[in-house]
Amino acid sequence: MKLEALPVIKGEYNLQNYDEKYKQFDWVETEKEFSWSKTGKINLAYEAIDRHAESDRKDKAALLYKDDNRDETYTFDEMKNLSNQAANVLKNFGEVEKGDRVFIFMPRSPELYMALLGTIKTGAIVGPLFEAFMEGAVRDRLEDSGAKVLITTPELLPRVPVSDLPELKHIFLVGDNIEEKDNLHDFSAKLKQADTAFSIEWVNREDGLILHYTSGSTGKPKGVLHVHNAMIQHYQSAKWVLDLKENDIYWCTADPGWVTGTSYGIFGPWLTGTTNVIVGGRFKPESWYKTIQDYGVTVWYSAPTAFRMLMGAGDEIVEKYNLSSLRHVLSVGEPLNPEVVRWGMKVFNKRIHDNWWMTETGAQIISNYACMEIKPGSMGKPLPGIVAAIVDDQGNELPPHRMGNLAIKKGWPSMMHTIWNNQAKYESYFMPGGWYVSGDSAYMDEEGYFWFQGRVDDVIMTSGERVGPFEVESKLVEHPAIAEAGVIGKPDPVRGEIIKAFIALRDGYEPTEELIEEIRQFVKQGLAAHAAPREIEFRDKLPKTRSGKIMRRVLKAWELDLPTGDLSTMED
Ligand code: WT7
Repeated sequence: MKLEALPVIKGEYNLQNYDEKYKQFDWVETEKEFSWSKTGKINLAYEAIDRHAESDRKDKAALLYKDDNRDETYTFDEMKNLSNQAANVLKNFGEVEKGDRVFIFMPRSPELYMALLGTIKTGAIVGPLFEAFMEGAVRDRLEDSGAKVLITTPELLPRVPVSDLPELKHIFLVGDNIEEKDNLHDFSAKLKQADTAFSIEWVNREDGLILHYTSGSTGKPKGVLHVHNAMIQHYQSAKWVLDLKENDIYWCTADPGWVTGTSYGIFGPWLTGTTNVIVGGRFKPESWYKTIQDYGVTVWYSAPTAFRMLMGAGDEIVEKYNLSSLRHVLSVGEPLNPEVVRWGMKVFNKRIHDNWWMTETGAQIISNYACMEIKPGSMGKPLPGIVAAIVDDQGNELPPHRMGNLAIKKGWPSMMHTIWNNQAKYESYFMPGGWYVSGDSAYMDEEGYFWFQGRVDDVIMTSGERVGPFEVESKLVEHPAIAEAGVIGKPDPVRGEIIKAFIALRDGYEPTEELIEEIRQFVKQGLAAHAAPREIEFRDKLPKTRSGKIMRRVLKAWELDLPTGDLSTMED
């Protein structure tokens, strides 16, 4: 089917006059949509939940939750009460105060969302942790953030190295029949008993909201701090890009451990008063289609890896379900292959709309709008009010079709506020001319569409998850058999990239299948399953600079049969 054969979506927020709007738009227009523009009282959780609970949307479904054991609906009014109860529990038993860091480490469940909103209502900064993290990953994040309170489950508690975390004062457990002792509290029981009234902590626009840890090419994961002001862009992009309208049933498949799962799994949909579908449990193609059919999902936001897995599961499955409710389908996180766009047109009769942003940008930056002619393979155009460009290493703007750094003019509403405990790292993102430099290379065509080329650094994107090679290498060299390790992303048709480790063994160790499996398990248990190398290759020695840095670029060249480039800094 030709792309032109499908009509573009026409809607209230279509940007037919994109170019006009792009030039004129000022975010002050969006500010008027919030109640704080009149009252002066600011808190994202109020705008996302309470404001609707105090309006005609009181009895509208806010959350439709489903997993293998539960199937529940919560209205905006119920969400208001439950998040108030969560806030009371945290304040009364966890001594939570404005600015404290409260972390949430648990699988998706309604309680996770109540706890997250409750935390925000107390004025504390919430830190969501992906449930697959193992002890090392959990320790790094709780330690760096100085978390005072943790909300988790009895099953995950063994992965929390409590005795190494002197700043962690209270732990709340979500579950049945929790045995309370010292600073271990039964969150579920206390939630039921708590007062449904809570007086929200009003904050300033630049006060901390959420900390998302993400990986770079060097060092430990860094804590990207976002502030309440980000709601301006969460809200506006949910209208422009997700195209959310009053009667939509919206489903974002991302986990709140990652930024897509909060900015667009929580904030965007609820700031706009939209009914939000949350599905717990693991990925199963059949149950995904069933979710769309049973809930009548109209707007669906997912990731290239998920679409490729659905594609791999076969088109016969799609035919068993009625997916006619779908109006708008979107993708983020990795390059969306034109192949997948064509598949989407075939099986869903919809274009999949790609968009680009990252943890640090807090919200969507470049997008194929619902109404726009998309170019398969392109990420689209910048949001009105945002200036994006391709710049060289000195910060000079490059003309169309020249490859360079994808950069954004500093000052968009959802821009990160700082890197926690590391202001120098924060400043290192910026270039002369006020450019935030993304770490991606791209080019722009003459019509202003942006085309992704690759990462400038060594960051690996595997199944849409960002993995720092340094973290994996550090974990690998803790293994007694390993002398040196270098880790790269290797292109993969389904996962985008897979993690490949090159390893030099210590004397006395032999490269056996058992050792390979043991090493994989070692990373899985120590960091997270998605960080474990799928491929391991043994070498006597790894390429290093004279200062001892592993040259990943050379490893990559070996792997892909490419020229190794300048080797003048390599040791003999
Ligand atoms: C990196 C950011 C916030 C989205 C989830 C990932 C890559 C993101 C695209 C896209 C090609 C993309 C970039 C970016 N990326 N969207 N549409 N096309 N690449 O957030 O974990 O902070 O990763 O994801 O490389 O820098 P993240």
